[in-house]
Amino acid sequence: MSKRNILIGGAWPYGNSSLHLGHIAGLISGDVLARYFRLKGDNVLYVSGTDCHGTPITERAKKEGITPKEIATKYDEEFNRMFDGYQFSYDLYSRTFEDYHKKKVMELVKKLYDNGYIYEKQEPQAYCEHCGKFLSDREITLTCPECGMETKGDQCDNCLHVPTAKELLSGNCIECGSKLVEKENNVLYLALSKFQDKILEHTEKVKNEWRINAQNETLKYLKQGLLDRAITRDLSWGVNVPIPGYDDKRLYVWIDAVLGYLTNTMRLCENRTDCTWEDFWKEGHNNKIYMCHGKDNIMFHSIILNALLLGQEDNYHLVDTIVSAEYLNFNDQKFSKSKGIGMTALEALDLYDSDSLRYHLISNGPEKKDTNFTIEDFENTHNGEILNKFGNLVNRTLKFKGLEEIPDGKTDSEVKEAIIETYETVGKLVEELEFREASRKIMDLVERANKYYDDSQPWVAKREDIDKFNDIIYTCSVVIANLSNLYEMIMPTACANIRKYLKLDEPKWEYIEVKKGTKLENIEPLFTRYEKK
Ligand code: MF3
Ligand code: ZN
Repeated sequence: MSKRNILIGGAWPYGNSSLHLGHIAGLISGDVLARYFRLKGDNVLYVSGTDCHGTPITERAKKEGITPKEIATKYDEEFNRMFDGYQFSYDLYSRTFEDYHKKKVMELVKKLYDNGYIYEKQEPQAYCEHCGKFLSDREITLTCPECGMETKGDQCDNCLHVPTAKELLSGNCIECGSKLVEKENNVLYLALSKFQDKILEHTEKVKNEWRINAQNETLKYLKQGLLDRAITRDLSWGVNVPIPGYDDKRLYVWIDAVLGYLTNTMRLCENRTDCTWEDFWKEGHNNKIYMCHGKDNIMFHSIILNALLLGQEDNYHLVDTIVSAEYLNFNDQKFSKSKGIGMTALEALDLYDSDSLRYHLISNGPEKKDTNFTIEDFENTHNGEILNKFGNLVNRTLKFKGLEEIPDGKTDSEVKEAIIETYETVGKLVEELEFREASRKIMDLVERANKYYDDSQPWVAKREDIDKFNDIIYTCSVVIANLSNLYEMIMPTACANIRKYLKLDEPKWEYIEVKKGTKLENIEPLFTRYEKK
């Protein structure tokens, strides 16, 4: 098959709080796909960044007396360290406050406006005359009409009531306490309803490849009929609205963020001679677009982003595949920093190997249902599977007592067949987004090789039949070499070590052999045991 252009978008985390293991579990599917398609020889771009705008960051900055940009920058730096630590292979990880991004977003939004997909509407809204501004629900306090508690306007902390626009008018400005008045505000709306037919048609065409949660969530909106959405906010932090009369407003954070996949591709391709951004985002370029995120992100990628692309009326290729994870819990509870439940992704890296965390989160990921993470399960995976099975196969083969080089042996034909079949089965599973099962199938090959090793007893052959011994060790070395291809998308550090030990070329998704006579030097165990803490 000819080289395909594959764009993989990892959700852009909000730059206002640390990420936990659940976030990694949701995002790692993007890295698995990116690495897999690169091994297959496809032309891959894997992009993401820090989502820096929006109301929560603005509010927090106000509270802490610093700028939203300072907050976003701090978390952006943390995320960079974290994604490096987990070996995410982004081609570009940027941030939404970059000028390049903002400029391109404004061009794209202007185009939507010129094409008639954005319209203006006057709406009565809560206004503080003292502060001279329209207030969002979170900037209003009111006495909850349901339970009588004094609460913030987005939702009552006590009874969970969500105040209506009318109820909000009875409240006060959170900052100065003034009584609110009702005032006509200009708001821009995205005419999502105009895309109903096209998005429905596209969804029907591609949805069978998606996770079931994405199918259900997207069809739910389409069945109700898409509703136009307000895309301007009364904020000063965000992307400017490229339409006259909106100088004091900013774009709704999701509009700016989902376009980041496209602006990042444009920016990357400016410095490349081998491809253009259109190869990934226009029809007719043998291309495919994957979006990877948690289940709360689905409709923004399956509906909003596609609407923004369709509204360009410029032959854009729509999102093909939604890879949406369920949630990961920690000891059967939601991860929560404030309640001290679970650990952040960076804390986990201080304690454990990134390969093992990746392996565990992929092999036990929340693909189809919420899944529980416990330290005990994780340590069992590391000690029981990764180290005892995979690590041990490598160790007992390459560090066989007295072995100095890869012997001149033949590959066992049944083992070879099993390897070739593993590539086929695992490749198919990855393309079907069945990463847990894919990982399991690779471990089946490890177990198969360990059984072959035990059954053929190289320690006996060493004394009695040196040709047989050479065949056994050679065969196991070939399995190990192929595991360094197969596991590259899951445990990249261990795989790089194997390639170094066996002097292998770059990994690829294809059966390989090992050069006979390769010297075996400085071989260290791939993993060390975690002691119970
Ligand atoms: N910041 C959002 C979240 O953390 C995700 C944004 S994804 C993007 O849920 F595509 F919009 F960038
Ligand atoms: Zn006020």
